[in-house]
Amino acid sequence: MAKDQTTRICCIGAGYVGTCTSAVLAYKNPSVRITVVDTSEAKIGAWRSRSFPISEPCLQEILKQVVERLAFSTDIEAAINAADLIFICVDTPTVTKGTGEGFALDTSAVVACVAKIVEVSTSDKIIVPCGTADQLRKLITQKNTKGLNFEVLSNPEFLAEGTAIHDLLHPDRVIIGAENTPKGSNAAARLVSLYQAWIPSDRIKTTNTWSSELGKLAANAMLAQRISSINSLTAICESVGADIQDISQIVGLDHRIGPHMLQASIGFGGSCFEKDIRCLVYLAESLGFRHIARYWMADLEMNDFQKASQTERITSLLGPLASSKLTIAVLGFSFKAGTTDVRSTPVLTIVRDLVGRGHKVKIFDPKAKKEDIQETLCKANLGRERAIVSLNAMQACDGAHVIAIATAWDEFRTRPGLRRMDWKSIADGMQQPRLMFDGCNVVDAKYLEGLGMKVLELGRKQAML
Ligand SMILES: NC(=O)c1ccc[n+]([C@@H]2O[C@H](COP(=O)([O-])OP(=O)(O)OC[C@H]3O[C@@H](n4cnc5c(N)ncnc54)[C@H](O)[C@@H]3O)[C@@H](O)[C@H]2O)c1
Repeated sequence: MAKDQTTRICCIGAGYVGTCTSAVLAYKNPSVRITVVDTSEAKIGAWRSRSFPISEPCLQEILKQVVERLAFSTDIEAAINAADLIFICVDTPTVTKGTGEGFALDTSAVVACVAKIVEVSTSDKIIVPCGTADQLRKLITQKNTKGLNFEVLSNPEFLAEGTAIHDLLHPDRVIIGAENTPKGSNAAARLVSLYQAWIPSDRIKTTNTWSSELGKLAANAMLAQRISSINSLTAICESVGADIQDISQIVGLDHRIGPHMLQASIGFGGSCFEKDIRCLVYLAESLGFRHIARYWMADLEMNDFQKASQTERITSLLGPLASSKLTIAVLGFSFKAGTTDVRSTPVLTIVRDLVGRGHKVKIFDPKAKKEDIQETLCKANLGRERAIVSLNAMQACDGAHVIAIATAWDEFRTRPGLRRMDWKSIADGMQQPRLMFDGCNVVDAKYLEGLGMKVLELGRKQAML
């Protein structure tokens, strides 16, 4: 291998991004050795013992194939020192206190990693952080007393949970931002060569750091905007008698728009969309562009409205019954189908609002871990006596007056050939008025009505019960 090619990588952060990215890089670059490190002994222990802390299609198979060249460790210093290229994939939540509260990125974990790298390194490194490369370069300049060369690159991650490995293997594009200096270009070229192992060169774009970072924010903000745009039409559809699924199709068939991200829902969640929009709003505000900040803020307001309006949607159909203490089964808790991640799930808003109105809520998710759901409920101060996590759908729906489908898991589909649940037994076990609220448009209303349920579909007009 040539002198300036990368042979040893350290990835700090053994979460979704760090582990999936490292697994694919190791899989496609057989001569590279990668050590994934984390401060959490429990997480590293779980990866090592193969009781994986996250579930992603194909991740397990890939990890099996790279077992000789990808290691998990808590010895962060040793892994940093041995590496010539370091990915920083630690969490960067939104700031919760002080300057930028509610909007700016909290980069303290990234800053801690960079400080550690500068402190323990005895040779030059290329650093690929999540967060702002600019801020980190300044920090390195202050702390670098050993005269080493640290090149900071930006390489935004576009993977989506649930399809992470597929997204990494077949990316629409890879973006690498670097400083416009010979050393910056050389560092970028080394990262490019890792990706070129499987990605055609015309999909790998090198640019400056700001374009790379702003491009990532813009992509996520525009994806979220599409979801909010279609969601904004659900209430109108219900009022005038239009059908949101037809609207999605009509809009999506326009080749200039395309069909993706146009499914109506109870609102978007997850750890990226809202955070990236908040970051964009903060950036616009700090540059003095208040109209631009307000423009993007409106997207978040629409999403908050969509999440908050679901309980009203359900209870408005119940008439006087709405003031009784009802039992409501909520099916699905992860922030979207295909992932076990319950961080920033929009379902929490529905559960909180239903419990707040005095109803008893029973939750079932086919993939999310029961303890993760319980922890989320606990953090939201939702006591176990009012919000219960059930072991299966039948248990959640038994005795329920209302079922609300909140995550579009295939398990909840009712069409013949796709049907996995015993909907007849579920309907028989319910109490009147046996209302089904389909917040994801995954059920066949006629089929469930044939079983004695009343079905309320998101974005379709409904008669009063
Ligand atoms: N999850 C996604 O879909 C996604 C997509 C694109 C980008 N991102 C970004 O990638 C980054 C990582 O996201 P994630 O979902 O993988 O996070 P995660 O919470 O799943 O994992 C982060 C890991 O970093 C570890 N960590 C925190 N501070 C550390 C430190 N100082 N030293 C060592 N380990 C430390 C934590 O213990 C945790 O295991 C975030 O900035 C996120 O915004 C996430």
